[in-house]
Amino acid sequence: MRYLTIALPKGRLAEKTMKILERAGISCPEFSDPDTRKLIFTNEEYKLKFFNAKGPDVPTFVEYGAADIGIVGKDTLLEEGRNVYEVLDMKFGRCRMCVCGPESARQALNNGGLIKVATKYPVIARDYFYKKKNQTVEIIKMNGSIELAPIVGLSDVIVDIVETGKTLKDNGLCVLEEILQLSARMIVNPVSMKMEDSRVAMIIRAIKQELEKE
Ligand code: PRP
Repeated sequence: MRYLTIALPKGRLAEKTMKILERAGISCPEFSDPDTRKLIFTNEEYKLKFFNAKGPDVPTFVEYGAADIGIVGKDTLLEEGRNVYEVLDMKFGRCRMCVCGPESARQALNNGGLIKVATKYPVIARDYFYKKKNQTVEIIKMNGSIELAPIVGLSDVIVDIVETGKTLKDNGLCVLEEILQLSARMIVNPVSMKMEDSRVAMIIRAIKQELEKE
């Protein structure tokens, strides 16, 4: 039997996914060993391989079939626009994609003016402003600490993830508009979906059952 490969996004989503699988009896003790530098972990009982990747690379691994299954945030899925099947809402990693900024930016935002929008998510931001709001904006791609942009005058607003809202609050910013709700999703390679349907279905079932207990 060939190994079924599962790509996980480094960090909290990966840890939470492994905990759920463990509870479902699909364990991989090596995975949580803090001393190991290994990149790939196996579960021999179910012939599974797991690896940790950068979040935005997870849909890429899955689209090309280097991983059969992936776990990834809905934000990354939308931003990357890869050809993969989204098969399950994992219900954790919940947060919101929002337009944020200082309260003083609200007027310019509502007037539909040519505002500057800093974001790590240019596809989602463009889609929201151009298609949903019919508003022309200037999008500035950034790679992190997006909240800095309106504070130092790089942009009027930002499009970013809000979880607890603490980062915004601590920096004198607020949510101006909500774009969409996010959570972790399971994705599957379209060929794997056909060729490995029973094993993929087994994993979906196992995770679903555990999620229902929460
Ligand atoms: C994310 C996001 C916000 C923050 C939101 O950043 O970009 O900055 O978390 O969380 P909060 O509402 O609970 O404060 P992350 O920590 O992933 O790092 P980044 O700035 O490099 O994107």
